[in-house]
Amino acid sequence: MIIAPPIIAVDGPTASGKGTIAKALAAHFGLPHLDTGLLYRAVGRQVFLDGGDPDQSAAALAATSFPESLLHDPELRSEATGGLASRVSVHPHVRAALLERQRSFADQLGGAVLDGRDIGTVIAPHAPAKLFVTASVPARAHRRWLEMQRRGETVTLEEIEADLAARDERDRNRAAAPLRQAEGAALLDTSHLPPDAAIAAAIDLVRQQLGQG
Ligand code: DC
Repeated sequence: MIIAPPIIAVDGPTASGKGTIAKALAAHFGLPHLDTGLLYRAVGRQVFLDGGDPDQSAAALAATSFPESLLHDPELRSEATGGLASRVSVHPHVRAALLERQRSFADQLGGAVLDGRDIGTVIAPHAPAKLFVTASVPARAHRRWLEMQRRGETVTLEEIEADLAARDERDRNRAAAPLRQAEGAALLDTSHLPPDAAIAAAIDLVRQQLGQG
């Protein structure tokens, strides 16, 4: 019998908890983890550093050759870079330029966990385990606000809600690889779940999908 490598695809909107869940799944199943949002954030940051326009495909494409060291820049986690990432990610050329790196990570021997927006739909539609993690806008805005407080960023809850709504709109309605629940993906709503409960629920769902349930 051929056993498929355990690829775990975790998709969902900003601040849904997908990053925390993906990290915990990787630790639980002993798999390497790739936060694909970080790649788009690096492109967004690089366009900014180049003084380019993130809404222009050519400028955004040029920024896909960002140096590896940029992936460790703490500025990638900021709200401003998240907005730039969402803008550069609408360009099909940018998505194509980042595709191979994500696919080879997904298809490495032994399996992997990837989180993002299009893992279950485009990067690894063949993944045997797929989750679509979501939460209400108020729950996500509150989490993001707490995170920004910890980072010392002065943003109001209203600004975050407006930013989340704009990003959701862009991520869901773009033509190239829009955010949506992949076929076969299990839905996990974390609005009312503390992190530990969300992680436990995610592990259960993945175990079932991998036939270990
Ligand atoms: O998950 P995140 O907030 O770090 O992602 C930042 C932006 O990057 C998000 O608004 C859309 C884009 N993105 C994407 O288009 N596809 C992915 N697989 C991951 C992120």
